[in-house]
Amino acid sequence: MPIKFDRETKEFHLYNHALSYIIKTLYTGSVGQVYCGAPLAPRRTYSFLSLAASGGVLHPDKSVARFEYPAFGTGDYRTPAFALQLADGSTVTEPVYHSHTIYAGKPTIPGLPSLYAEHNEEADTLELKLFDELSGLYIILYYTIFADLPAIARHSRFVNEGKEPLVLRKAMSLSLDLPDNNWRMLSVSGAWAREFQIIESPLIPGLHSVKSGKGNSGHQQNPFVILKRPAADDSSGQALGFSLLYSGNFIAAVEGDCYSASRVQLGVNDETFSWKLEKGASFDTPEAVLVYSGNGLNHLSHVFHTLYQRRLARGIWRDRERPVLLNNWEGTYFNFTEQKLLAMASIAKELGVELFVLDDGWFGQRDNDASSLGDWFADTRKLPSGIAGLAEKITAMGLQFGLWIEPEMISKKSRLFEQHPDWAIGVPGRPRSEQRNQYALDMSRREIVDYIFTVISDIIASAPISYIKWDMNRSITEPFSLALAPDCQGEFFHRYILGVYDLYERLTRAFPHILFESCAGGGGRFDPGMLAFAPQGWISDNTDAVERLRIQSGASLVYPQSSWGSHVSAVPNHQTGRTTALSFRAMVAFFGVLGFELDPTTLSPQEKSQIAMYIEFYKTRRKTFQYGRLFRLAAPDSALFTAWQASSEEESLVGFYKLLAQPNRPPIRLRLADLEPDALYAVSLWEQGGFEEKDKSCNCGLRGGDELMQAGLLLDATSITKQGDFFGEIFIIKKVEEQTP
Ligand code: DGJ
Repeated sequence: MPIKFDRETKEFHLYNHALSYIIKTLYTGSVGQVYCGAPLAPRRTYSFLSLAASGGVLHPDKSVARFEYPAFGTGDYRTPAFALQLADGSTVTEPVYHSHTIYAGKPTIPGLPSLYAEHNEEADTLELKLFDELSGLYIILYYTIFADLPAIARHSRFVNEGKEPLVLRKAMSLSLDLPDNNWRMLSVSGAWAREFQIIESPLIPGLHSVKSGKGNSGHQQNPFVILKRPAADDSSGQALGFSLLYSGNFIAAVEGDCYSASRVQLGVNDETFSWKLEKGASFDTPEAVLVYSGNGLNHLSHVFHTLYQRRLARGIWRDRERPVLLNNWEGTYFNFTEQKLLAMASIAKELGVELFVLDDGWFGQRDNDASSLGDWFADTRKLPSGIAGLAEKITAMGLQFGLWIEPEMISKKSRLFEQHPDWAIGVPGRPRSEQRNQYALDMSRREIVDYIFTVISDIIASAPISYIKWDMNRSITEPFSLALAPDCQGEFFHRYILGVYDLYERLTRAFPHILFESCAGGGGRFDPGMLAFAPQGWISDNTDAVERLRIQSGASLVYPQSSWGSHVSAVPNHQTGRTTALSFRAMVAFFGVLGFELDPTTLSPQEKSQIAMYIEFYKTRRKTFQYGRLFRLAAPDSALFTAWQASSEEESLVGFYKLLAQPNRPPIRLRLADLEPDALYAVSLWEQGGFEEKDKSCNCGLRGGDELMQAGLLLDATSITKQGDFFGEIFIIKKVEEQTP
């Protein structure tokens, strides 16, 4: 069992072939952090690695010590892992070791998404119980280590066994004290249509955080941080990744202290949180996942990808190849009729599309974004035979049918608002802020979630629907719930997201055949919490292929490409005005779940035949494109080119994207990954996508795995770039049986 407890040294060692995590009970009874990183042999003691743990006496300045779940108010002046207010108003706690259990398997967390183990042999769990005598508070720290992956899932449970109510003001999912600060921090930042831009910053003394206070995880930042050694890159070096399975207000913070140590914390954002713990009540934090890599960032990403693809996503779509879809949004926006949709669907079918998705504008009287959210009945002006009639006609063509919904929202101009104005979130007596002309429903209220469940279930059950796109086009303002007592309003944001998870859980259980895709104006709520319900998501409203290189690369730090839709849209692109070749747009969209977002009735015969070829090519290789191990071979911040590789047992597919053309520049050596050094590979170029003659003559043919990984492909070796700006190529690398001499 990869969790060892030594009674004498009171050390807990969680280990496998790729990771060690050591904590111990200090003589004071509090729990100290000893080590986290590359695997160490499970021998008796490593206490000497921890200053506080080895000396016997705790340094008078507790800020020197490394604590596992630091408390407030007894001398550790760094940011605490939790904050509690007792009935007498005091805020000091001193939780000490109480007991522990170690068992095979992994627990779930009530009401919250979490990783799972399919078999008990896959994971082992340590439950470490701390107790603060004066308040009667128990804190149970959960650690699950996966047998084959350098990953630990953590969360905390607070139980009030005291005599008085308590108030939790902060409750982190993970706190980790690292002994040094020789790291650089990676996070992603952005805005609507510009999500997932990778930001690298030094660790400096003081607190550096990414967070959300918007009610959704947000376009601006995403609930993860990565610490990497300064020299580490995609292919080598040490890195630690921390990701939170949560879709609401989060914080991921690193505090550099005056002793050059670092404290990492992830959890619900305490700026917008408090929770009343009545006598006997308990509170569970969301789950945080820690991943270690000694082999660079691509490896770190693969561990997250494996976990999120295989042990977070659930249901029949977890492992299934995802359909190629056509979404009508950029093709028609709100302006469509049934006739128009059927014409689009019929051409889409000819081109090889498998799923037709009807986006916003099908319900109430919604001709623009100013009305009808909440009125989930078909607009018979546009759809005379309703959703059922349209869906039947589309499925009769041999296509699957998908539908867009935005269930958490309500328009001021809607029947629902006329009937239930108090269902919209707001503070009585204050104006409500509108965003995109809409309000959000109070999803913390059970009766509202029940109502939405019934209405949406009725639509889904009424028609042959096999896909739902669940959108959320505004964040929360004026947070307040009429259903919460004044001293419980701090619970609002967390209860909102618990309501969303509850609705997702009920709908995905009721309709297990449906593929759910999450969306929030693009990537406004693309996070691991959502992936537990919707195995794919829309990471950005930006469909420009050049922008997508950066966005998909940023998302891939933590998320697998099976988790994002990637669409080919019309040019000039609607977000950037840029024109790129159809082949370039397709080659970028291949690395993800391919879709189209345009009006196929406007395509020329030549474009149609190109798209049909692209779809055919994608379908034969989608297992690799969607589920293959993804490698970032060249950084998206290079002005010259980006490159990705997706590898499966069958083949490796390499996408090489040249950005701005420049004559007479030095050739590029693109080193591939994940091949067997001693094996021989047939290298070919995807001819239908177009290619530079020189790139073909220099690279295609039989090549050794060692050669492809060490010397690489030789690209862009012509002095004149004939293809101009934004030109892509796809290499297909297949192993051949013969061995190199
Ligand atoms: C925002 C989404 O990201 C788009 O794809 C589209 O569904 C619109 N909302 C519809 O309002």
